[in-house]
Amino acid sequence: MFSDAALAKLIEKHPDELSMVYAMPTDVAGAKHFREGDLRGVDGKEVIDAVRNGQLWVQLLRLNKVNPEFSALEKQIIAELKQHVPGLKIFGCRLSLLISSPSIHVSYHADIPRNALWQIRGGKKVYVYPVEEKFISEEALEGVYLGETQEAIHYEPEFDTAASVVDLRPGMVVTWPINGPHRIVNDPELSVSMVMEYFEPIAWFRYAVYYTNGVMRRRFGRAAKSTRTSGPVMWGKALSSVVFKLLGVRKQHRHTRYLTFRIDPGSQTGYSEIPKIVRDF
Ligand SMILES: [Fe+2]
Repeated sequence: MFSDAALAKLIEKHPDELSMVYAMPTDVAGAKHFREGDLRGVDGKEVIDAVRNGQLWVQLLRLNKVNPEFSALEKQIIAELKQHVPGLKIFGCRLSLLISSPSIHVSYHADIPRNALWQIRGGKKVYVYPVEEKFISEEALEGVYLGETQEAIHYEPEFDTAASVVDLRPGMVVTWPINGPHRIVNDPELSVSMVMEYFEPIAWFRYAVYYTNGVMRRRFGRAAKSTRTSGPVMWGKALSSVVFKLLGVRKQHRHTRYLTFRIDPGSQTGYSEIPKIVRDF
């Protein structure tokens, strides 16, 4: 499923709206800004060559929703997890594939769903930081839930003394507490990983609470008093988060996405610049 030939086929078959490519920095200082490129209509083998020799990050999102092999893999993983964790409830599971260049950095950020990162080819160092105000403020976390820019999360090199560092090798999987800030540094070789994102009841409650708190703070200037994930306040927030969503509040917090390059295996970075276009697919 993960040979160069199989990956090339996956890239070509995957729907445009679920395929992403980003230009990536190879140092921590440059890790803040990542630019998005156009992956449409490119030969799968050329994409892999460009990633192997360049500075790129290719994401094929939600493979389990469009590909029967990955759908079977999802069922197998969840069944095995449930054998070991009786009563585990998982919903909204998404399996995505990450194909990324040697030595690139993924900047310090936090995600909304629960996360498990499966390493398949190559290696990477994963730095995971505590979910504490020092490492991610309440306001920054609300921004994550509202879909605001990732750059709002502030990183200092001295945070590393508190990080758990995992040397991820093929066959290993790493997971961490929900919303835990993390950053990644690839080994100097092509890396293929699968990321599994999912929700369970606590993850969903946190969504409701942080989403509503974020809207309240930004719209009405009220800082949240409670981040509890149980009780009547939480249920009120769960309800209002649905209402805010229906009103389209989240969209107003989002940024327009632009594509600024295309794959170019002949270039040292694996891409070349194009006149910027809006990503409308
Ligand atoms: Fe992440």
